[in-house]
Amino acid sequence: MRAISLIIALTAAISCKAALPELRFAWKQIDYIWDSSAQRETAVQNGLFVQANNLPLGLARWKNKLFVTVPRWKNGVASSLNYVDIDGAQDQPLKAYPSLKDNLVSDTAESLPSNSSIISVFRVFVDPCDRLWVMDSGLADIVGSPNQIAGPSVVIFDLNTNKLLHRYFFKVSDMKEDSFFANIVVDVDKDTCDNAFAYIPDLGGYGVVVYSLKQDDSWRISHHYFHFEPLAGSYKVGGIEFHWTDGVFALALSEPRENGYRTMFFHAFSSTKEFCVSTELLRNYTHIDKNEAFHDFKLLGDRGERTQSSASYYDTNTSVLFYTQINRDGVGCWNSNKPYTPGNNPLLFTDSKLFEFLNDLKVDEEGILWLLSDKLPRFLYKSLDPNEINFRIFSIKASDAIAGSTCE
Ligand SMILES: *[C@@H]1O[C@H](CO)[C@@H](O)[C@H](O)[C@H]1NC(C)=O
Ligand SMILES: *[C@@H]1O[C@H](CO)[C@@H](O)[C@H](O)[C@H]1NC(C)=O
Ligand SMILES: *[C@@H]1O[C@H](CO)[C@@H](O)[C@H](O)[C@H]1NC(C)=O
Repeated sequence: MRAISLIIALTAAISCKAALPELRFAWKQIDYIWDSSAQRETAVQNGLFVQANNLPLGLARWKNKLFVTVPRWKNGVASSLNYVDIDGAQDQPLKAYPSLKDNLVSDTAESLPSNSSIISVFRVFVDPCDRLWVMDSGLADIVGSPNQIAGPSVVIFDLNTNKLLHRYFFKVSDMKEDSFFANIVVDVDKDTCDNAFAYIPDLGGYGVVVYSLKQDDSWRISHHYFHFEPLAGSYKVGGIEFHWTDGVFALALSEPRENGYRTMFFHAFSSTKEFCVSTELLRNYTHIDKNEAFHDFKLLGDRGERTQSSASYYDTNTSVLFYTQINRDGVGCWNSNKPYTPGNNPLLFTDSKLFEFLNDLKVDEEGILWLLSDKLPRFLYKSLDPNEINFRIFSIKASDAIAGSTCE
């Protein structure tokens, strides 16, 4: 009798608990699909592949492909732009995109082998027109012997044909001395694919670059709100303390408003505040009075202490902004129909082991939230243990993730 009522009590407790993300991919170390084992061996011998230096960072889903980026933090990254098969094995090797030949570039190269070559990418974006947008920083071996192989550029691929559509190099006026471009979001509708705008945050130079596909031109936007907060630059993750000055990094786009323009939510990495601005202003910035436009950038509010966030994504189905919680090993959310207060920004999941440095997140077309954790501070300041799982990708339906929380 007692055993039965205990089982009933346990079942009730489990079914009341909010759903947890499901582990989809897990790796101790990253490897790739090579043309042959001889090719891999040669790459290891001549330093094109140093396995311990390959850390996954960004993700995006398109159909059966889950794109996974591997930036060239250190030397010996074999391929920066890759994907895995969603229905494939949990620890499958990454497949280079569009090909291994386009990605297998020496850290000491002096130029891009071809326009479909990718040097180093942090984040990618899949648009509703079946295109993959890649922000290629062009910089190899960032923390070792940095080598700017090519200028920063936006690279666009057709996902149906895997062919390069276009590569656009930033202008000198788009950049500052400490510029670093690591993220990209795309503003476009399914039925007007040629009228696309990309917004690219400059986390080192505190600006946002706008790129118009139709005009094949770009311009730079500056604002105080793109800077970091001096008192919010300290982190402690995985037992490691570090101090970062990263400015604007996370950008997220709402659905189009009545006037046809989306709202762009944005925040600096080293900050606990969220801001927003209309994309109308971003698009028209070259013609408008900058002084008047200053007040069109709005403070939404503050999430509270230790809520620094590396990435955010707005889910149009639930009207919820999801974001990573670096100092709290988890995921936070905000329902955009509610005031922006700490109480309306709950921590949905937290786990210091599974979510040690949740680096990127995205919601796909089917309403599934994808999360990638990668222990970045250990990788940068100590080293990863190749005998334990270091990189994980999870998924959960966005509406299940918020069920029972104030984001619902
Ligand atoms: C690469 O792209 C640039 C900029 O779009 C263009 O000027 C150049 O001709 C392209 N090079 C090749 C080899 O296609
Ligand atoms: C932005 O540009 C569009 C097209 O040129 C124009 O119709 C609109 O009034 C402009 N908006 C602002 C705020 O300047
Ligand atoms: C949209 O959200 C509702 C709940 O808010 C959920 O039931 C539905 O499955 C979601 N649809 C998609 C496509 O995510």
